[in-house]
Amino acid sequence: MSQLNPSIGGNHEPPPIAQSQPSAATQTDTAQSGSMLTDKFGRVHKSLRVSVTDVCNIRCQYCMPAEDVRFLPRSRLLSYEQIARFVEVVSQWGIRRVRITGGEPLTRPGLEELVRRLRRIDAIDDIALTTNGMLLGDQIDALESAGLDRVNVSLDTLSEATFKRLSRRDGIAQVIDGIDRAVDSSLQVKLNALVLRDVNSNDVIDLVRFAAERDIPMRFIEFMPLDADGAWNDTRMVSGAELRTQIEAEFGPLTPVERATKSQPAQEYRLPTGTHVGFIDSVSTPFCGSCDRLRLTAEGKIRNCLFGTEEWDVSDLLNDKAGVDNSRVKAVVQACLAAKHAAHGIADPDFKPPQRAMYQIGG
Ligand code: 5AD
Ligand code: SF4
Repeated sequence: MSQLNPSIGGNHEPPPIAQSQPSAATQTDTAQSGSMLTDKFGRVHKSLRVSVTDVCNIRCQYCMPAEDVRFLPRSRLLSYEQIARFVEVVSQWGIRRVRITGGEPLTRPGLEELVRRLRRIDAIDDIALTTNGMLLGDQIDALESAGLDRVNVSLDTLSEATFKRLSRRDGIAQVIDGIDRAVDSSLQVKLNALVLRDVNSNDVIDLVRFAAERDIPMRFIEFMPLDADGAWNDTRMVSGAELRTQIEAEFGPLTPVERATKSQPAQEYRLPTGTHVGFIDSVSTPFCGSCDRLRLTAEGKIRNCLFGTEEWDVSDLLNDKAGVDNSRVKAVVQACLAAKHAAHGIADPDFKPPQRAMYQIGG
């Protein structure tokens, strides 16, 4: 993989980049919960993102290199059984929500088996999937019967030409079909868009209209320095504030909606028509202070942050069919949490992006 190397600066006015520190309020939570998954800033961890593969069937330029991608050998991936063992153990210490990611998780055969295993873990009350939608139409029925609760589908454009430019592959019709099949299911559906200046920045209004027609929330995620090409800079990124101005000019004023939970990364707004539009302003308005997430990579390493530079291997600890040694897993998870930083520090002059790109970590 190429070295990630963001260059900051350029012709556009840079968006304000703030830092969010863990607050006193989160520390009060800790005292009340007595959770074992609490870091040194008092943040209680309740969500786990599980990557099931680094393979993807498209090549989004904000994530993957165009060519010569080297994927993990299949033999290095955790089995569904091992993943479920890990989730079972951390659910005993307060993990309540699991999001399945990748790479593209639906490229891994039989994903519904993992969903079925996770559904059997009593303490897990929310199972979600992030997908690019290409294979969703074919798999939605199996995922629904296995007990999946929610699906977030990436949709950055409605145009085939722009889709091809962004993701270096054809397939927008397939994605839209997948979204429509998901909307017809009992699952909760949300759409996620990432806007790159001069690539899909003219598609924002159409995307909001598309979501409004289906009465599903549309969310915009700021481009973060996690692309494999090291092409991130804050001029290619379109800030949430800029998008809100564009959307308000077309649809009228946005009214903020209170966050359902403190750890919810998106700030949601309501349009005069009632449609919800959310913004995940990870770069311009970091929400690290209320982060409740841990990550498990496809090969069994735990990470405390997307931008972390360290990983802790748990794969060996999940091998024993006779049962997992909880105390050993606990020691590793606690070491991982103890090393969690207060914030991602993208704005710091000495910020260095992680060696892994988004598809290798799990979005
Ligand atoms: N910055 C922000 N979000 C990203 N994603 C992928 N790469 C990046 C990046 N560099 C998100 C996309 C996609 C999800 C799987 O991960 O929004 O929808
Ligand atoms: Fe694949 Fe998702 Fe990365 Fe796009 S963002 S290349 S869909 S893993």
